[in-house]
Amino acid sequence: MSPEPDQPTPLILSTWSFSARGCRAAFPSLAAGGSALDAVCGVARDAEADPTIDSVGFGGLPDATGKMTLDAAVMIAPERCGAVCAVARHLFVTDLARKVMERTAHVMLAGEGADAFADVMDMPSTDLLSPAAAQAWQRWRLGEPVGRPVDAGPASGQLFASPPDACHGHPTMRHPEERETPHDTVGVLAIDRSGALAGACSTSGLPFKLAGRVGDSPIIGHGLYVDPEAGCAVATGTGEMVMGVNGSFLAVECMRRGATPSEAVHEVLSRIERRFRPQSHQQVGLIVLSRTGLWSAGALRTGFIVSCASARGTEMLPPQFVMHPDEAVEGPHPVGAGGNA
Ligand code: GLY
Repeated sequence: MSPEPDQPTPLILSTWSFSARGCRAAFPSLAAGGSALDAVCGVARDAEADPTIDSVGFGGLPDATGKMTLDAAVMIAPERCGAVCAVARHLFVTDLARKVMERTAHVMLAGEGADAFADVMDMPSTDLLSPAAAQAWQRWRLGEPVGRPVDAGPASGQLFASPPDACHGHPTMRHPEERETPHDTVGVLAIDRSGALAGACSTSGLPFKLAGRVGDSPIIGHGLYVDPEAGCAVATGTGEMVMGVNGSFLAVECMRRGATPSEAVHEVLSRIERRFRPQSHQQVGLIVLSRTGLWSAGALRTGFIVSCASARGTEMLPPQFVMHPDEAVEGPHPVGAGGNA
């Protein structure tokens, strides 16, 4: 059912099943007239605080040297966005990105500068490396299997495969893509009762990435894009492939030129497929929401799940479109089809 443009229906869409709890918690305020920006930040914050999610916030997996860094972005319009990357001492990086948007004349702060800004904003400094993540890194550098327990339950968005070899973070390592394992950015889109759109994303990035690597999530237009004139999009998965096609901007631009959300999803994933010829361990998931509340989602492979909170309740839905439906990536059982466009 499509909402009337003059009667926006509040809605939250978020990547992976692990964000369902945050969507459920954020929806009542949104339904009562709260802002889309508050909703997306609330969902991201919930994931950042959850130590069982090994791709976002505390509990995320570190880089090849064992150091944890976090990236995040928020956006409500081309002229209203904020981002941080390579944050090493502060957990709530989505809130920090929002402060960059609201309290500075800049869009993005990186590394120690971002941490210093968080200090100035009186955000608490903390150790980001969880004991489980430290153990996983130790196993990884010894070349041992690193994986989520298969009984991780509803918090499990996708299983990590073992790396093919250990390189101990040496700069002469093989191309990082060869050792990549699937990973899961939390990306959130929302529309509120006034019709305002907002998006946020937060990630610890590629597990055991080269020190200094930054992916798509904090880069406006790559992992996230919001334009009230056209719609919004958010991506999860292998950031390098999303970056190569400006994935989120491309999706919104497609809608600006008349595409439906599902056509926009198809265009982005087809372009990634054509240019990158993704390997079997690589995944990209995309959620696209139009300015009138129509949405769609897609992924390269099965396993991607959209958490959706609306007046119908909170659902975990598979994407409408999967490029390789016969290539499974593990995830929770779907309960319906995701998307209304
Ligand atoms: N999509 C998140 C990253 O690649 O870092």
